[in-house]
Amino acid sequence: MILRRYMPVITLSVLMSAPVIAAPDLANGKSIDQQKCYACHAKKSGFGNGDMIYTRSDSKVKSLANLKRMVGLCNSELRLDLFPEDEADVVAYLNQQFYKFKP
Ligand code: HEC
Repeated sequence: MILRRYMPVITLSVLMSAPVIAAPDLANGKSIDQQKCYACHAKKSGFGNGDMIYTRSDSKVKSLANLKRMVGLCNSELRLDLFPEDEADVVAYLNQQFYKFKP
């Protein structure tokens, strides 16, 4: 019967479009950082490098909770209009790449 031929294709596309709940999208976090955060941090820090604000020795971020708060602050103060999921992705990316706090 005809359906049988298409079943694997249908099953596969359902699986692939299912949202992955609670797994942060690090690639999305990285591209947001590069598009919305990097340039200003490069300028403000005076290093000409937008990553260095995250690794500066006088960093104000001492824990994952701090990091979330700081990202939230930059997001809302500057009206960057990130969705909460995007904010979570950026936090996850920054933590994995720079801060390395235990969850
Ligand atoms: C218009 C400028 C600007 C933009 C855009 C901006 N920030 Fe910031 N950000 C700052 C400044 C200035 C500081 C330093 C604040 C301080 O020293 O108290 C900072 C500090 C931070 C810190 C703390 C760094 C540390 O370890 O001390 C984090 C984390 C951060 N920003 C995240 C973000 C994220 C994520 C975005 C993009 C979604 C973003 N910021 C966009 C200006 C900006």
